[in-house]
This record gives sequence, structure tokens and C-alpha cells, in this order.
Amino acid sequence: MWVEITALDRVPEWGVLPVKIEEISLILNRQGMKVACYRNACTHLEYPIDMGKVSNGIITCPFHKYQFKLDSGKCLNAPADPLESFPVKIEGDRLFVEI
Ligand code: FES
Repeated sequence: MWVEITALDRVPEWGVLPVKIEEISLILNRQGMKVACYRNACTHLEYPIDMGKVSNGIITCPFHKYQFKLDSGKCLNAPADPLESFPVKIEGDRLFVEI
């Protein structure tokens, strides 16, 4: 099911926008016209990651410092455990996520 989330320009470029859909907590990241969506849960102990520091396209979990690439969700500490991602589509200036 595709769900309309927000306007594209409300997602801060290189930053993270936390959103909630159907009780699922998610984060959005935009790099130019490319937007990625992940479950707001670190793959270490499932704590929320939205308050993590973002630098050079990498978010660092505030709890135990695991790092994840925001363009792919790849975990730099445990490559087998990427962030759970959700498909994103852009129509005009609107952003949709499939859950
Ligand atoms: S919960 Fe994120 S690094 Fe431990």
C-alpha cells in the first residue's frame, strides 16, 4: 500500500525527517532527488536512530555508535544488518512510501 507522506522539499537534504505511518516509525533522507526511507530502528538493539548525528551521508546511532549509510542503509559495523528499507516514489512534489 502506497501512502502519501509529505512534500519532497520538507525532507531536509542530507538530513533526516522522522515520520510515522500506521504506527510504523520511519526516517526519510534526501540526497538531491533521491529519497530513502528506513524503519526508525537501529539494527543493533532496535533503538530509534532518528536522533543520531548525520555527517557525510552517514548516520551514527546515538546509543552505541553503530553507523549506517543513508543512501543504502548499509551498516558499517555489521554489513549483514542494514537498516530495513521501504520503497519510495516521487510524483510531482509529493512523496509516497510503500508499507
Ligand atoms: S542500538 Fe544503535 S548502536 Fe546500539
